[in-house]
Amino acid sequence: MSRQTINNIGVFTSGGDAPGMNAAVRAVVRTAVYYGKNAFAITGGYEGMINGDIKQMDTRSVSNIIQCGGTVIKTARSERFRTAQGRKQAFENLQKFGIDAVVAIGGDGTFRGCAELYKEHNVRIVGIPGTIDNDIYGTDFTIGYDTAVNTAMDAVDKIRDTAHSHDRFFIIEVMGRDAGFICLEVGIAGGAENILIPEIKTDVNKLCSRIKSLFDRGKASNIVVVAEGDDAGGADEIGVKINEQTGLDYRIAILGHIQRGGRPTAKDRLLACKFGYWAVKHIIEGKANVMVGEINGKIELTDLEDTFGKKKPIDTDTLKMATVLAC
Ligand code: F6P
Repeated sequence: MSRQTINNIGVFTSGGDAPGMNAAVRAVVRTAVYYGKNAFAITGGYEGMINGDIKQMDTRSVSNIIQCGGTVIKTARSERFRTAQGRKQAFENLQKFGIDAVVAIGGDGTFRGCAELYKEHNVRIVGIPGTIDNDIYGTDFTIGYDTAVNTAMDAVDKIRDTAHSHDRFFIIEVMGRDAGFICLEVGIAGGAENILIPEIKTDVNKLCSRIKSLFDRGKASNIVVVAEGDDAGGADEIGVKINEQTGLDYRIAILGHIQRGGRPTAKDRLLACKFGYWAVKHIIEGKANVMVGEINGKIELTDLEDTFGKKKPIDTDTLKMATVLAC
């Protein structure tokens, strides 16, 4: 794969889809074409790379997608790409199509794959962080996170209406296998009385006393927002544990994949446009094995290994604030 001249740029989306991925694909294709390069879509993430599912794109082929959720070039979680044989096949297909460099839009699993491809076959890749989880080191925000937070917050607002009307206790589970970013922001913005995130050990005894004391002090509704990966369990387990200790009746809402769908917010579209544009500019300038991110409003590059090797810190001070505000 040529290290000097970049003529053909591939783009793919991988891992869980995230609102705003289409806006990023559009930005990549249009920036590449603007600078006289050929753009190729690799359909279905690493699976498409292995299968050779690759097609040339032009500026018109990404029309009318900036506002759409999901990803028009499809995504997947590929088991085959975890093997050296799968990665070799993927590399051979990139060569077959004459692809000199690739833009990868996805999360930590995607970037692990990119780093392997770079190490084993010297494939030049620039990453764009696209995951609703926001758990990527090297960027303040990932594409899709803002939309997911707003979608989940909307759901919490609706549940609060019925919780308040019935004086009911609710446990709402949001996505986040390993990270509590969605949970923390949705919890605060939705005025949840309790927020449980994987980054902080959950003390069920303390949680039960707080729930009881809030009801005793006249709170009409009482909402726990829990990340699916919390150490005390998701909504189902938490509900059983609380009921065992307090006898409280409860209802559960698991928001699940509705958090991944829908029209991207303006913030996600803007981020996607910037990331797509800068990813291509950096590729043309010869950068590889890095991710484009935004830190304090500035576009920054981070080594791909760091994006998944380093843990992005979560602001636990805001959790304290949430406890004070929801008393
Ligand atoms: O990575 C994004 C995410 O939505 C996580 O929050 C969630 O745990 C996971 O994907 C679900 O993945 P899948 O759709 O493959 O079940």
